Amino acid sequence: MSGGREWDAGSYHAVSGPQLDWGRVVLERLPLRGDEVVLDAGCGTGRVTRLLAERLRAGRVVAVDGSVAMVEQASRELADLGDRVAFIHADLLELAVTEPVDAVFSTATFHWVLDHEALFARLAAALRPAGRLVFQCGGAGNLAGAMADIARAAREEPFAEHLGGFVEAWNFADPDVTAQRLRAAGFAEAAAWLEPAPVRLELGGQAEEFLRTVVLRLHMERLPEDLRQPFADASARCAARDGVVTLDYVRLNADAVLGL
Ligand SMILES: C[S@@+](CC[C@H](N)C(=O)[O-])C[C@H]1O[C@@H](n2cnc3c(N)ncnc32)[C@H](O)[C@@H]1O
Repeated sequence: MSGGREWDAGSYHAVSGPQLDWGRVVLERLPLRGDEVVLDAGCGTGRVTRLLAERLRAGRVVAVDGSVAMVEQASRELADLGDRVAFIHADLLELAVTEPVDAVFSTATFHWVLDHEALFARLAAALRPAGRLVFQCGGAGNLAGAMADIARAAREEPFAEHLGGFVEAWNFADPDVTAQRLRAAGFAEAAAWLEPAPVRLELGGQAEEFLRTVVLRLHMERLPEDLRQPFADASARCAARDGVVTLDYVRLNADAVLGL
């Protein structure tokens, strides 16, 4: 799995309003009767997984995540759904399911996986013939402006000593390349497109916590504990205009159907 596996799950659960809003819209693209088995690839703390489970009254969700903290929190959050949600702690690149699933759904996850060819091959292997894949993640150009602001903060001391030369390893893929990769993995139909989705966060708490937990997660791993919040604060200040940080999110969407 690329980067560190662990997340601050409690904080992510609190700050992931933008991801929940995006997930709700992406879920509308997945046609469901309600009795299918659907894999949620990168379930996080389960906020979007719950919306998926609500559409599967006679079906089930298989919720997969590579972070122990995320799986533990999601299990607690969704305990009321009983065996309608099964959790698997696994790296998506090593995913193996016992029975093929009817569909794979994923939000805000695949840009953390550097090898999309291998990822799509794994997902194709988990799907039944003609099964559907619907996902959204960061795409080409995602957060380019924010990362330039953050790089300015990283050049300041005392952060530069720890972050010098660090470049965030994300996979913000291009839609044409993504559609080609999906077809190469066995998807007979594959459409992919980009969508700007800017997020506005107030300076003075909201922006700093969101940056620390989501955008700067891997920067945090390189900083000593006592510099983590100060770096999130400095990054937010660098990115702020008139007290507001506008994160220039660009989402990559894809809908694909596996061949028979
Ligand atoms: C930003 S969260 C998104 C969670 C949820 N889907 C949402 O929209 O709120 C990304 C999640 O992907 C998981 N993840 C990233 N790379 C992964 C991998 N290779 N295998 C399994 N899970 C992975 C992380 O552990 C994290 O929980």
